[in-house]
Amino acid sequence: MRIYHLAAECYPVAKVGGLADVVGALPKYQNKAGMNAAVVLPYYNRKFVKENVFDVVFQAATLLGNKRYYFEVLKEHTDKLGFELYLIRIPGLLDREEVYMYPDEREQFVAFQLAFLDWISYSQQTPDIIHCHDHHVGLIPFLMYHSRLYSRLANIATVFTIHNGQYHGVLSWDKFNYLPDVDLNQTGLLDWGGSINPLAAAVKCAWRYTTVSPSYLHELEYSSNGLEYLFYLERSKGSGIINGIDTDVWNPKADPMIPNKFTPAKPEEGKAKNKAALCEKFGLDVEKPLISFIGRLVLEKGADLIAAAIRRSLFEHPGEFNFLMLGTGEPWIEQQLSELKNQFPGQCNVFVGYDESLSHLIYAGSDFLLMPSRVEPCGLNQLYSLRYGTVPIVRATGGLKDTVIDFGDEGGYGIRFNNVSVDDMSYSIGRAIALYQNKPHLQLLRKRMMALDFSWDRSAKEYITLYESLKNTL
Ligand code: ADP
Ligand code: GLC
Repeated sequence: MRIYHLAAECYPVAKVGGLADVVGALPKYQNKAGMNAAVVLPYYNRKFVKENVFDVVFQAATLLGNKRYYFEVLKEHTDKLGFELYLIRIPGLLDREEVYMYPDEREQFVAFQLAFLDWISYSQQTPDIIHCHDHHVGLIPFLMYHSRLYSRLANIATVFTIHNGQYHGVLSWDKFNYLPDVDLNQTGLLDWGGSINPLAAAVKCAWRYTTVSPSYLHELEYSSNGLEYLFYLERSKGSGIINGIDTDVWNPKADPMIPNKFTPAKPEEGKAKNKAALCEKFGLDVEKPLISFIGRLVLEKGADLIAAAIRRSLFEHPGEFNFLMLGTGEPWIEQQLSELKNQFPGQCNVFVGYDESLSHLIYAGSDFLLMPSRVEPCGLNQLYSLRYGTVPIVRATGGLKDTVIDFGDEGGYGIRFNNVSVDDMSYSIGRAIALYQNKPHLQLLRKRMMALDFSWDRSAKEYITLYESLKNTL
């Protein structure tokens, strides 16, 4: 079965968050299961692209409103990622370094989608499934089914995966002229709340939509930034498939980014050495429990409450634990955390920035990983931390709820709390400190969590089953 995955991110080509990890792994695992899955991304002027060989496989021009853009499709020469990787390059629009945050981001992503459809259509390809991820590629199902230009593609099944329902990629209706020759009777499908809403359009037009955990599927019906009623109406088309992790990249037995490898059978020594390396680097005391946070410093992640919760916990448990943070995001949250570092030198440290290798060392060398998310469609950090024997402390929401069982419950291994509040967080930190004192219990939980299987094998097959059900409806 031929599948095209379309997204803005894909590890290791361009990563901002978990979307990249999913798009860089799911197709590989689908191919292992006998599919023929490929990934199409915008062209980024980044390390992976500069260091690898690409062949130009298609060239044409597309119209965005009254502007004509030349574009080319490049294919990575060796399929080294375990799938065919295509990049769409548009000089002046899709040839930059960053993934997001350009003032003409809307134009960039509309042009990307049009160029993809032009390419598939003009080169007479008929894939079985076009699988779009998040709002950046949310207009594709509408265009395939309701633009005369792409009528060749009207019978191809589309699947749309929502990794983050908070962002919709809204465009004002004065940008409607970007869309080529669409059926004017169907423009309502693009609209939500008086604007063109690519996420809403995809939920309405894709044959099926999925979310990255079953709990998040339900949560969207009461919290999706204005689309709640839409998710309620369309719920029969939705399903929740939990993300997996790429066990080739996230493997404590062989991870080149950590100095000391370790196995689920005997994790203690390797973890202790990684912790020592981490504590030395950040001036922390290796004897104390190390609680870390990795992630985007935004409200969704509850990052705004971390500094207050750590301060409260250090007041309640003076000198009893260390805290380390790796992240970047809202400047005011970065500021809060930097102040924490200044206030508690030797107990708290923060690294403001993005550092892939450091993240691996933190998963490997920490005792606990804090995730106080307000919204967490799936969350990969807790899955990496489980694999690296680090106890996740999570707010029970979305994918965190679906993957972390509290150690107080049968078969449990993590720490869960219910409210995004300083109270709940500091109470949970207190539980972590107590657990750390009970080494045999901690070791038992570590064994239990490292034996869990969150690899992509299972979830990739769930997507394949979904695709197959769509083929049968043709
Ligand atoms: P989200 O996609 O919402 O940010 P996920 O938990 O799905 O959350 O995935 C986050 C991914 O990004 C993980 O691979 C995590 O390790 C990585 N990550 C986040 N922030 C950083 C950072 N500052 N440095 C390195 N890796 C980071
Ligand atoms: C989004 C979500 C995160 C999820 C990731 C990959 O960024 O915020 O929870 O793990 O996508 O699906």
